[in-house]
Amino acid sequence: MTPDLTTLRAVAEHAARDGGAAALKTYGGSHDEATKANIFDIVTEGDKASEAAILPILRANTRFPIFSEEGGGDEFDAPYIWHVDPIDGTVNYASNLPHFSVSIALADRDLAPVVGVVFNPVTGEMFSAARGQGATLNGKPIHASDVRDMHQALIATGFPSGRRTVRRENNLDAFMAVLPRVRDMRRLGSAALDISFVACGRLEAFWEGGMNSWDVLAALLILSESGGRYSDYDGGTARAVTGKQVVATNGWLHEELLTTINAARR
Ligand code: IPD
Ligand code: CA
Repeated sequence: MTPDLTTLRAVAEHAARDGGAAALKTYGGSHDEATKANIFDIVTEGDKASEAAILPILRANTRFPIFSEEGGGDEFDAPYIWHVDPIDGTVNYASNLPHFSVSIALADRDLAPVVGVVFNPVTGEMFSAARGQGATLNGKPIHASDVRDMHQALIATGFPSGRRTVRRENNLDAFMAVLPRVRDMRRLGSAALDISFVACGRLEAFWEGGMNSWDVLAALLILSESGGRYSDYDGGTARAVTGKQVVATNGWLHEELLTTINAARR
């Protein structure tokens, strides 16, 4: 049975707002940091406070299991699962840079997202979508850009925290191949927000590898509901929804960007 997406979208927005408010309480000062998989992969008190605010709201209002970055998740084998990133862009948050977000998606067991919200508590921008209902920014419909020429494109990318050791995924070859073809490049630092920026036409495209489902699932739904397109580097979706290889575009530039990235990776 398909769940009531309108209600679930409202629950996700509520949880994202409360998570963001919790993170904002310690934004702007010094932070308690701990490392995770490597010295560049960090968690702060803000990530934990945001997660602690989000999970009870999802649990009180729905029965779906939760897969959340900082370990607050459940065992899951269910038709639908929440994928939660309490702060996407933790490195920005830790340095008090105002580009980070709370990302919450509800996806089926094949990782097809049906609800997605991405909220930046500093700017108050709430990107939101439900499957078949379109995408919005603070309640107003958004659309990917109509730019069809790479020379007019502003494109963002990212470098995964494992870049020191995983040479093939360090992204520099693709970066060097794309840079001369586009108007300019950005490395903004929150994949969820960056993809949402493609959805609302601020960017023409974004790509990155080596991420996780919680970083991207919500924004990928927001993008597809805004008329944009996403895939992995082969053009399929299997590795895009896990975050392992994400190319997110306004649609018009998708094939050209894929070709450029893949030529550089050979
Ligand atoms: C990170 C951000 C960043 C991206 C990293 C991600 P996190 O997520 O999305 O932009 O480059 O690969 O891990 O760790 O801040 O949730
Ligand atoms: Ca995170």
